[in-house]
Amino acid sequence: MTNIMNENPGATLNAGHAGARGLPADALHVTGLSKTVPLPSGPLVILEDVSFTIAAGDSVAIVGASGSGKSTLLSLLAGLDTPSSGDVSVHGVLLSALDEDGRARVRGERLGFVFQRFQFLPSLTALENVMLPLELGGDVDAEGPARRILAQVGLSERLGHYPRQLSGGEQQRVAVARAFVTQPSLLFADEPTGNLDTKTGQAIIDLLFDLNSRHGTTLVLVTHDEQLASRCRHTLRLDSGRLVTAGVAA
Ligand SMILES: Nc1ncnc2c1ncn2[C@@H]1O[C@H](COP(=O)(O)OP(=O)(O)O)[C@@H](O)[C@H]1O
Ligand SMILES: [Mg+2]
Repeated sequence: MTNIMNENPGATLNAGHAGARGLPADALHVTGLSKTVPLPSGPLVILEDVSFTIAAGDSVAIVGASGSGKSTLLSLLAGLDTPSSGDVSVHGVLLSALDEDGRARVRGERLGFVFQRFQFLPSLTALENVMLPLELGGDVDAEGPARRILAQVGLSERLGHYPRQLSGGEQQRVAVARAFVTQPSLLFADEPTGNLDTKTGQAIIDLLFDLNSRHGTTLVLVTHDEQLASRCRHTLRLDSGRLVTAGVAA
């Protein structure tokens, strides 16, 4: 077990498939990232001076106790939230230099996000929920790719089901399919096995790493699941909003 301490802010976690798809070799470059929210009781520091680099094609687990800032960090990395200070670059594009529309464009073109609470549109079927990101991106044939990715996650028999008609494991697979359908270069997932039994959780893990190895997609996963963390090449550990270690899995 080798550890890269975060005193070395430029530390680059080793690449899995550096330069995959001709994009810059760094999928994510994070410097001095902090998030503070004003509360009546005074400012609350959620993240403090977090710096790291993730190479393209790599897989990274973000771990830490509940409340340590994992979900906040993931939202900042994906440009869903803005930091109080510090910078995030996604494949060399500085998110803080973009307005909200610009960040939405980067998300649409490059990023996939599996939310902890899925955030499906309840009035759309599984197929329609997966087609949506393609349609929003102006794709004419959204249905073909959506059907293919749903087949890949084993849900060809559930295309017409509404979210409420799907089991937790099936919803999780639809969420992964929706995040992957645009073929993002970077996939974020918040506790992707959080509410699943061991067997379904294992199937989701296999699915994520299969897509990672087939498409060279960089994976950034928040997890409590030791098994999932151990499948990732690297671990970033947060303690009260600070990065403690960037470990390299043995
Ligand atoms: N918008 C917010 N306003 C106030 N407190 C927040 C806000 N977002 C997060 N927090 C607090 O910041 C801490 C970290 O939250 P979070 O990133 O969700 O942690 P984790 O995902 O590691 O459980 C928690 O104590 C949470 O209550
Ligand atoms: Mg969380």
